Amino acid sequence: MSDQASVSSDPVVKPVIGCCIFDLDGVIVDTAKYHYLAWKRLANSLGFDFTEADNEHLKGVSRVESLKLILNIGSVELTQADFDTALLNKNAWYLEYINKIGPEEILPGVSEFLTDVRTKGIKIALGSASKNAQLILERIKLLDQFDTIVDGNKVANAKPDPEVFLKAARELGVAPADCIVFEDAVAGVQAALNANMKVIGIGVDTVLQHANLVIANFQHTTIDELVAKVS
Ligand code: BG6
Ligand code: MG
Repeated sequence: MSDQASVSSDPVVKPVIGCCIFDLDGVIVDTAKYHYLAWKRLANSLGFDFTEADNEHLKGVSRVESLKLILNIGSVELTQADFDTALLNKNAWYLEYINKIGPEEILPGVSEFLTDVRTKGIKIALGSASKNAQLILERIKLLDQFDTIVDGNKVANAKPDPEVFLKAARELGVAPADCIVFEDAVAGVQAALNANMKVIGIGVDTVLQHANLVIANFQHTTIDELVAKVS
């Protein structure tokens, strides 16, 4: 038998990935409601309202860019000093909620899925725009599940720029093509594609139509099943 023949008769090789990169807000934990309440309080303090529908546009968007969008909704202009104060106020109000959360806020199936990924020997990274990521992971007691955390304190460019995901892959020594990103935001899906990574959307496919696959949540699935579907 020639070498060629022996290669082609090999059993199908199982697809291998090196790293799963998880967004935080809306993927690991449902913090969008707390961001909303804090932004609404800020908008109200500036004399206008901010709806839950408006809040949908802020998913995955950095704190500074979110404030610009909100001021635009209220047609309010702030001096740089007042802009900075507004950012501080919003975050202080947001932290009032975050300081009360615990593991009960972890989204369905996430803990089991992280255990499954780890058991398969695949590295786990966080790739989030939030500057509060470390605190939130501590509060929900998942900090020790992550091999590296790349958050809003470590990157200069917001999603859809791929910086956050590329940095996570680099820190773990994994090639971008061997990473799978889990994202709930349109900007995050685009950031993963811009990083040349596979991306699985968490949510609905009418919103996340550019993802390689969309799932509602992590319940009743395994990493092997998802890798097979996106490979
Ligand atoms: C993203 C959220 O993960 O983080 C956005 O989806 C949020 O809503 C952004 O604005 C920044 O978060 P933080 O915690 O730094 O204000
Ligand atoms: Mg998110």
